[in-house]
Amino acid sequence: MFKSHRAVVFAGALAVAVVASAAAMGGERYGLGQTASPELIAGWDIDVRPDGQGLPTGQGTAAGGETIFVEQCASCHGEFGEAVGRYPVLIGGGDSLASPDPVKTVGSYWPYASTLWDYIHRAMPFGDAQSLSVDETYAITAYVLYLNDLVAEDFVLDRNSLPKVVMPNRDGFIAEDPRPDTPAAEPCVSDCKTEAKVMFKAKRLDVTPERESD
Ligand code: HEC
Repeated sequence: MFKSHRAVVFAGALAVAVVASAAAMGGERYGLGQTASPELIAGWDIDVRPDGQGLPTGQGTAAGGETIFVEQCASCHGEFGEAVGRYPVLIGGGDSLASPDPVKTVGSYWPYASTLWDYIHRAMPFGDAQSLSVDETYAITAYVLYLNDLVAEDFVLDRNSLPKVVMPNRDGFIAEDPRPDTPAAEPCVSDCKTEAKVMFKAKRLDVTPERESD
């Protein structure tokens, strides 16, 4: 039911802003918009955090998720997450992150399993977002984790077990620079950089297409 309300809430939010500014200017009201009820807010409030906060009650296993994945995801991501054409690959890439050609996948790169649940629930299948039930999302998430050798086929994924799944790159994201030789400095606002040092060639990073004349 929430999905059908989204456009209304968004229009409502815009209307509230318009009314508020109009009211501030002339003291008039146009009677537009509607009060955002807890039910309407709940339709937007679907984010899931690394500690599991936001995960709904429900469950699923990779064994249960396989069929749904094959039906709803494999046409783009491949039956085993290997990807079809240029759609994103969902498996592999382990040990490639520090190489010149990192392969960033759910398995190699994503630090938290909660992001996988949130992303699938929020955005997939592409073109039919938010059509999956909670249990289907748990089952498919378990299947993608299983494809990455992170859980067993019969591992029951739910709001308690999901935050405990340790992703390989969990410690690869550093919030604070821990190096002792780089003390936190006052941010510079003028005349800051005196010399520029070339760190990489764009060609090496493969971001710039080559020209015949080069
Ligand atoms: C019609 C093609 C299509 C289908 C079907 C599809 N996806 Fe996707 N998927 C995409 C595209 C395109 C992206 C990249 C979207 C972007 O980056 O904005 C994506 C991204 C993803 C990602 C993030 C990958 C990454 O590393 O960034 C995951 C996970 C994912 N899809 C899972 C699923 C699951 C699970 C299903 C089935 C329920 C599904 N997809 C169905 C096309 C599809």
